[in-house]
Formats: sequence, structure tokens, C-alpha cells
Amino acid sequence: TQQYRITLLPGDGIGPEIIAIATQSLKTVGAQLDLTFEFQEALIGGAAIEATGNPLPEETLQTCRDSDAVLLAAIGGYKWDSLPRNLRPETGLLGLRAGLELFANLRPAQILPQLIDASSLKRELVEGVDIMVVRELTGGAYFGQPKGIFETETGVKRGVNTIAYTEPEIDRIGRVAFETAQKRGGRLCSVDKANVLEVSQLWRDRISALAEDYPDVELSHLYVDNAAMQLVRAPKQFDTIVTSNLFGDILSDIAAMLTGSIGMLPSASLGASGPGVFEPVHGSAPDIAGQDLANPLAQVLSAAMMLRYGLNQPTAADRLEQAVLGVLEQGYRTGDIQSPGTTLVGCKEMGDALMQQLDSIA
Ligand code: NAD
Ligand code: IPM
Ligand code: MN
Repeated sequence: TQQYRITLLPGDGIGPEIIAIATQSLKTVGAQLDLTFEFQEALIGGAAIEATGNPLPEETLQTCRDSDAVLLAAIGGYKWDSLPRNLRPETGLLGLRAGLELFANLRPAQILPQLIDASSLKRELVEGVDIMVVRELTGGAYFGQPKGIFETETGVKRGVNTIAYTEPEIDRIGRVAFETAQKRGGRLCSVDKANVLEVSQLWRDRISALAEDYPDVELSHLYVDNAAMQLVRAPKQFDTIVTSNLFGDILSDIAAMLTGSIGMLPSASLGASGPGVFEPVHGSAPDIAGQDLANPLAQVLSAAMMLRYGLNQPTAADRLEQAVLGVLEQGYRTGDIQSPGTTLVGCKEMGDALMQQLDSIA
């Protein structure tokens, strides 16, 4: 029997509701395939602020470092929005990514046939969409120095962030992207703003140079404004997209909506070594928290990515993904993916249906 130590970070808002279902599904699939998960829960975000005053307690980071993989739900909420930045939930999440050096964030946006009618785009535009956004996660606008709100000599406040990338930072995310494209459709689109930003010029030069090592990958470049438009105009032109931290944040939410709902989209945050963090693309959804309304499927699919990319257990990953398709096939829908003729369920009911599916797959 294979044993794994998993850190669970439920965080805030809908986090505890959806992570409970992902944990249950891991236990179920684990029992079927002789995998034992030792779950260790730790605090992050607003929950950690309430308990310790710190959005990322040292103990949490250590627990994550000592585990085989980390399953994170989401952080943030109105209650903490006015705290100083270093004490905000989001700072805890950024600290986790930086602390574990998770520079590569894989965000797949795949349209499931059952959800075509939940997309805000026309069927013929989204049918068959299968995109992987490779987002740089530990650099760019989120981390560049200097940053802060400073007062000028004339007493005027000036907000500052810096977008910076070094060559090695671009190269390592670039290589992940080329290798990802190699395993997929063999096409990579690098998204930048090289017509205006120097940092993007360096990005484009490096990505172009790397292309020589990957002759089997067809590389193209788009400016980010055009890329955003193209994603909505004709999403099927994309296979793999590589982009910087901030552009990737925005483009992955756009890609998410093509597939019906952000409540469906998982992600994997990976470093060169050590445990990865697996989390939905969506946030803590404070508007629906605590009401049993959340879609738990992005969290379950994040657990599947954990099995696939973090623990090298593709069979278990396949089962979770099959079970998700199964419940959708049966017509179960949370509010965010509802369409005519389907059965509206809450988060827990969706979880129950999922466990039944998993049992029937075994
Ligand atoms: P959000 O993704 O939390 O919510 C956007 C909209 O999508 C809301 O209407 C919400 O109800 C809906 N939604 C999101 N996930 C859903 C799900 N699983 N099922 C059904 N509906 C879902 O984004 P926001 O409202 O801009 O941010 C809320 C908080 O979350 C903020 O504090 C933000 O900083 C934080 N956030 C955290 C993460 C993360 O932890 N990775 C990601 C994004 C935002
Ligand atoms: C995400 C979120 C985070 C980000 C926030 C909450 C820090 O939006 O994971 O997409 O901007 O990276
Ligand atoms: Mn985001």
C-alpha cells in the first residue's frame, strides 16, 4: 500500500465546503486502489488571520514542505479586505507560492460535452475547446520590487508595482510550457505586451530562443489584448498558452468561462522539486459561502491533478475525472452550471452523487 501525506488548506468562504468533498473523494478512490492518504489540516488566509494574526503561519509552510502534496481551496473575504496588505489573506497565498517556489501554474480549460450549454459562448465556438494556460506564478507584477504606496516630496501618494523578469525566470517557465505543448497538440502561443513593455520584449526574445530546442513545437506570439479578444472570438485556435503572472491570472479566468463556469476549473502549481499546490482557479466566493451552493467540482478536479502531477497516480486521477463526467451525464448541476433540463443540486448533494459514481466505477 502506497502512503501519502497531504496537507489540506481549506481557507475561507466556500473553501471548507468544497475541500470536504474533494477529501471524501480521495478517500473513496484511495480505498479502491490501495492508496492511503494521511491528511493534515493547516491554516491559511482569513482563517489563519483569525487564529494567529498571520495569513501564512510558519507552521503551515513547514507542514506543506513536509508533505507529498498540498490541496488548497481558496482564501479571502470582505472581512479582511481593509487590512494592511502584509496581513491580508492574499498575501498568505502569495507567500505559499513563493515559499514553495511554485513558479509554474498549469490551468487547463477543457470544455466537457455535458456543459456546452452552460457556456456563455455559442456551441459551435466552444465545442472541442481544450486549452492549457501555463502561467508564471512567482515573478512579474506580483513580486517585482520596488512596490508600495509612497509619498512624494510634494505630499502626493504614489502607488508603485514593478513588472520584472530575469532571463532564468523566463527560461524555466518557457521550458515547462514547451514540454507541456509537446505532450499536447504541439502548438504554443506566448502572450505578452512586447509592443509596449521592455520586460515583454525580453520575454519574447527568450521564448523565441528556447524554441530552437523544441523543433516539434509550433511557436506563435500574441499581444495580450489581442489574445483576450481571440480567446472569446475563436478559442479553438489555442492549444498551449504561456504567459506572465498577471496576464495569466486574467486570461485563465476568461478561459474558464468558455467551459461553462469558473466553478469547474482546477489548477496545479509546481516547482522544480518539492510538493506542488493544487487549487481551483476560482476564489472563496464569499457571496455564496456557507449556503451549500458552491460547485465542488473544480476542487475535485484539482485533487485529480494532484494525483496525476503531484503523486504520479494516473489511474486514481482518471477515476475522479470519470466520476465528474458521470455526475454531469446524470444531469446533476450546481447553480453556476445549470441549464434547462438538468437537476439543480447543492454542494453536498453533488458530493453524494460523486461518491456514488466513484463506487460504480470500481
Ligand atoms: P471568486 O472566484 O471567488 O468569485 C467570482 C464569482 O464566481 C462569484 O460570483 C462566485 O460566487 C462565483 N464562484 C466562484 N467559485 C464558485 C464555485 N466553486 N461554485 C459556484 N460559484 C462560484 O472571485 P472574487 O469574488 O473576485 O473573489 C473573492 C475572494 O476570493 C477575494 O478575496 C479574492 O482575493 C479571493 N480569491 C482567491 C483565490 C484563491 O484562493 N486562489 C482566487 C481568486 C480570488
Ligand atoms: C488566483 C487568484 C490569486 C492570484 C489572488 C487571490 C492572489 O486570483 O489564484 O487566480 O491573483 O493569483
Ligand atoms: Mn485569479
